[in-house]
Amino acid sequence: MGAEVVIEGLTKSFGKQAIWRDVTLTLPPGEVSVMLGPSGTGKSVFLKSMIGLLKPDRGSCVINGVDIVTCSEAKLYEVRKLFGVLFQDGALFGSMNLFDNVAFPLREHTKKSEAEIKRIVLEKLELTGLQGAEGKLPGEISGGMRKRAGLARALVLDPEIILCDEPDSGLDPVRTAYLSQLLIDLNAQIDATILIVTHNINLARTVPDNLGMLFRKELVMFGPREVLLTSEEPVVEQFLNGRRIGPIGMSEEKDAAQMAQEQAHLDAGHSDGTVGEDLRGIVPQLVPTPGLPERQAVRRRKDRVMQILHTLPQAAQQGIVESLTDEDRARYGLGGHGARSGAQAAVTHAGGRPAPHPRAGYPGDMSSTQEIPRVGGGRP
Ligand SMILES: Nc1ncnc2c1ncn2[C@@H]1O[C@H](COP(=O)(O)OP(=O)(O)O)[C@@H](O)[C@H]1O
Ligand SMILES: [Mg+2]
Repeated sequence: MGAEVVIEGLTKSFGKQAIWRDVTLTLPPGEVSVMLGPSGTGKSVFLKSMIGLLKPDRGSCVINGVDIVTCSEAKLYEVRKLFGVLFQDGALFGSMNLFDNVAFPLREHTKKSEAEIKRIVLEKLELTGLQGAEGKLPGEISGGMRKRAGLARALVLDPEIILCDEPDSGLDPVRTAYLSQLLIDLNAQIDATILIVTHNINLARTVPDNLGMLFRKELVMFGPREVLLTSEEPVVEQFLNGRRIGPIGMSEEKDAAQMAQEQAHLDAGHSDGTVGEDLRGIVPQLVPTPGLPERQAVRRRKDRVMQILHTLPQAAQQGIVESLTDEDRARYGLGGHGARSGAQAAVTHAGGRPAPHPRAGYPGDMSSTQEIPRVGGGRP
């Protein structure tokens, strides 16, 4: 199972420019999480801070008991080996074919024989659907294949944590759908903790177990997907629905006067530019391709979410309870379909019972959702 990442109060600035502050969240082991945010909100800076390529000003990021913000260089080097990173542009060496690109970390960081390296490289190329392309140069293949090659290279050291920086950028919707499926299939096969930063709404709605959003230098929210997908928080709602009306503008932020004017237009019946379809609500999550193992994260996540169910907003609770199978209901002591009188009763019930697998819990997990920072108010 992948490693847990516990981030508390993480704050980063470059000189006088604050990027984000007090980011607190926990990436549950082996689960897939997505961090959303408009361009320029510091998503790439966040990923780089997680692997110690950038030094946060304050806060901690603890992986296997090591805080990568304050640890020694030697420790950081060790912890970094747990990570596989897919950088935004794939970051392949243009003059090396795919085989050598993917083999690079193995030749750099291990003493494996060429025969062993070949076995691993071909396995990862197959895992990412690139079998037969090992002799190609990055310039000879499509953007989607380059992304997959970057992913194959991120996988060769058997990472426990995989970070993907906008894996969908530059891909058309069809290729993005394939890539989404690939990420879910990968999670099913290697049970790694995965964090994807993106501004792709479709990917955010269908891939992850957990969703977060960075906006105006803060983590607006982070929690189970059901929480954000049913959220009425204006920024989250606007973003997940791709609407023009809302706090997010072309230059990322709008002032109150502009928002009032837009609302007036909307009230007067003017379209906000959204294409008809109402995207709100909890859409089904992608499942692994038939024939692959089930994602082990699914059961663990259900246990975890049922434990914190009573702390979640009502709409999220309802969505979660409605998604439970009869088997789940028996497991969580919720009775059969007929027995419940609406989600409310089931939820109260679940909250009052000991959880099936009591565990230490995730202190950082819901903190941002319980006390949602007021977007637009508060700190300048
Ligand atoms: N090494 C750096 N030095 C100074 N400023 C930086 C550096 N890296 C990123 N930034 C700034 O941090 C902000 C956030 O950048 P980035 O993380 O790339 O945003 P995103 O990935 O969300 O689009 C930008 O204003 C960018 O100019
Ligand atoms: Mg970026």
